Amino acid sequence: MASINVMEKLVSLAKRRGFIFQSSEIYGGLGSVWDYGPLGVELKRNLKEQWWRAMVRREDVEGLDAAILMDPRVWEASQHVQNFSDPLVDCRACKARFRADQLSEASCPRKPSKSPGEHQDCDLTEPRQFNLMFKTFLGPVEDSAAVVYLRPETAQGIYVNYLNVLQSSRQRVPFGIAQIGKAFRNEITPGNFTFRTREFEQMEMQFFVTPGSDGEWFEVWRELRMSWYHQIGLPAERLRWHQHTPDELAHYASAAFDIEYEFPFGWHEIEGIHNRGDFDLRQHQELSGKKLEYFDQAANARYLPFIIETSAGADRIALTLLADAYREEVVEGETRVVLGFHPRIAPLKAAVLPLVKKDGMPETARTLYEDLQKRFPCFYDESGAIGRRYRRMDEAGTPFCVTIDGQTAEDQQVTVRDRDSMSQERVALAEVGAYLQDRIS
Ligand code: GAP
Repeated sequence: MASINVMEKLVSLAKRRGFIFQSSEIYGGLGSVWDYGPLGVELKRNLKEQWWRAMVRREDVEGLDAAILMDPRVWEASQHVQNFSDPLVDCRACKARFRADQLSEASCPRKPSKSPGEHQDCDLTEPRQFNLMFKTFLGPVEDSAAVVYLRPETAQGIYVNYLNVLQSSRQRVPFGIAQIGKAFRNEITPGNFTFRTREFEQMEMQFFVTPGSDGEWFEVWRELRMSWYHQIGLPAERLRWHQHTPDELAHYASAAFDIEYEFPFGWHEIEGIHNRGDFDLRQHQELSGKKLEYFDQAANARYLPFIIETSAGADRIALTLLADAYREEVVEGETRVVLGFHPRIAPLKAAVLPLVKKDGMPETARTLYEDLQKRFPCFYDESGAIGRRYRRMDEAGTPFCVTIDGQTAEDQQVTVRDRDSMSQERVALAEVGAYLQDRIS
């Protein structure tokens, strides 16, 4: 399958099956802002839950949910006001906008397809810096004194709360703070479906360590983060490391590695692991005038801890899971589309299907469905041929279909069909909940 074709199919499937819709679609759609439908919201909740379990269900990490709006001085201290910008060029001929540092990867909207600047009458402006932070106003007066920003990363909410968390949770360095939350960036060239959007969710963890032990902790977190992707079902051969060269490093980082995934449109970052040193705490200490040092009793020393950051995008990982799960197979002369999610990640864990709408089958099926629904998200479907119902569940990525047939009333057994192998197994009606629970986990 051509890669571009796969993305088109994925966008169409995501809409058809209720994973992802374009924001404000009835008004023509808001650029690079997306909404999650019934299956998409379950998928994203599952992946966030897996992340939270891996990152916060540890003795040395605490959770946090900081506000999106923060004192604007936070963004001066972090240098987002000064540095968080991309170079932008406009084309006076076709009115399109491009990132000046990505011209060779961009394409001019006119035909034949060429890079910006390559058509004879392309007329590009000089690059100018464009700050990616969204601005709004706090209170009723819209003047410069009231400007606040929609946070472009969740990390800063952790830094400004680090002493509150440390003291209230009685942690000691080394320890971490994790949070999941929305971030906003007015990206110049968003695209590739939900890969680069203007509103997205981040899952970030900041780990505070003794200066000098940062190199060691950096390696620990690199290893843990890569193994998490394997646990949620992504194959090792589609994941790799990219080490930032000195000119790629963000202003706050002394070392950085990205975890990249091979999307149908190429290898791209899904998570960054950064050694931020004491850059952030030092900046906040200076601008706020509040001492942010940690007193290390064991060493009888006062210092600003160094920070190892793991920063992942929930929407980008949801897209990764969708792209990775998508496959087409020919079965008995027909193409079946399957989303082969790991059962832990799948939005629906099982579908309950009475073979026909008579002989007590729907009644037995509904009782089973209501019972299973208490354990995990399930779906009940009694309309259409059984083969067609299986295909619908394959497309939704549901790992198991449970069919109640004519024999069920006699032997109190049901058929459990496996999405991937399509094999079928008889399981006792009374045990099907425990059986599926076991297979899912
Ligand atoms: N606190 C560090 C930080 O924000 P980043 O590399 O700019 O680092 C981290 O972002 C992760 O956030 C990325 O790896 C990506 O998964 C996600 N992300 C960043 N910008 C995004 C965007 N415009 N749309 C979707 N996800 C984005």
